[in-house]
Amino acid sequence: MNPFAFQDRQLFAENVRLADIAETAGTPCYVYSRAYIEERFRAFDSALTGREHFVCYAVKANSNIAVLNLLARLGAGFDIVSGGELERVLAAGGDPKKIVFSGVGKTRAEMRRALAVGIYCFNVESEAELEILNAVAAELGKRAPVALRVNPDVDPSTHPYIATGLKESKFGIDIARAGAVYGHAKSLAHIQIIGIACHIGSQLTDMVPFVQALDRVIELAGALLDQGVALQHLDLGGGLGIRYNDEQPPTPEEYVRAILAHLKKKGARYESLRLIFEPGRAIVGNAGLLLTRVLFLKLGAERNFAVVDAAMNDLMRPALYDAWHDITPVSVNAPRTLRVYDVVGPVCESGDFLGRQRELGIEADDLLAIVSAGAYGAAMSSNYNTRPRAPEVIVDGNKFYIVRRRETVAELVAPEALLPK
Ligand code: LLP
Repeated sequence: MNPFAFQDRQLFAENVRLADIAETAGTPCYVYSRAYIEERFRAFDSALTGREHFVCYAVKANSNIAVLNLLARLGAGFDIVSGGELERVLAAGGDPKKIVFSGVGKTRAEMRRALAVGIYCFNVESEAELEILNAVAAELGKRAPVALRVNPDVDPSTHPYIATGLKESKFGIDIARAGAVYGHAKSLAHIQIIGIACHIGSQLTDMVPFVQALDRVIELAGALLDQGVALQHLDLGGGLGIRYNDEQPPTPEEYVRAILAHLKKKGARYESLRLIFEPGRAIVGNAGLLLTRVLFLKLGAERNFAVVDAAMNDLMRPALYDAWHDITPVSVNAPRTLRVYDVVGPVCESGDFLGRQRELGIEADDLLAIVSAGAYGAAMSSNYNTRPRAPEVIVDGNKFYIVRRRETVAELVAPEALLPK
């Protein structure tokens, strides 16, 4: 489904006019479609029917607790990278027994809390982390369930900031050394090896790197099974891309089917291993947009600027990765002059743009939608320039709900203090 479509020259989210949402919630404002989030989760989940699996939604992509709760209701697991994300999942009613904990820098306190609530698995990224996790688990009289996150050294051909599976990356344990680290892990009394994990990068639009990574993970799994390691699962990470512009990524079904078909070729001994996926963007990316209002048009000899009320603090992807998001007027009713604009925010940085050289027919006060902003939008937003973070709205059919209200400036300064006189 396409959750955002024009009806009568007005852009709708499901069956709600975006203009009505702007009226109630103000702008800038994030808008998500419940139906689309659910459809995308189910696409992964049902493609895995008949096989032990967890679809562990990557919380970092969009961590609003209402989004997490919708996924929890569908039986999702969760991929977390911090104690904060763990608390969000618990607050949203997520099942700790389906949580995998990724990340290169877990603190002792985070390990303790995750052990106390009984998460499914720690994805351990270094030998140093393994030692500390063993010690923390010993203090609590527990065994920590562990997968080693291996780095398969494949090139995902994506933006360098979001490629994680190359040798020079800080992520994971070099797959060439993984056998030795597993050997050491076996000797640790408070570590229980249950799986292998890998994640090679994000916004991948081609199956080739996924399949290459799978080949290397399977080779390692075979060697570990030969040594009698009781592997329960393979965690193949996230990373499936979405369409922002003219990309043609596989659908979740095509992606899962290609993985399953490839695994089948490897033989029956891998059939009983639980498969884990950690999709983030592929579930929420195209489920959301950022609604913004044009403040002024600034027409010039060299460039025209549309200054809007959303900025890089609300959606950082264009500034950080030069990412492209389509920008469309919310109403195409009134006659407008078409011009080419840089769509920029009010923040005092030249990097504060949301789109450059876009042909638009707009005037001051018009609403614009910056689309494909459901993943790594609100989640990466900040208060730079003391801008309260934007509210978030979920549309459900012909209703909408504010699931995060706009922050107030008073809330932003509340944690701060003056020095004594
Ligand atoms: N699992 C692990 C271990 C990860 O590091 C990530 C993303 C995911 C799963 C989810 O990946 P996804 O399915 O969403 O591609 N801020 C960047 C993306 C950073 C991704 C970081 N890791 C962006 O806006 O493009």
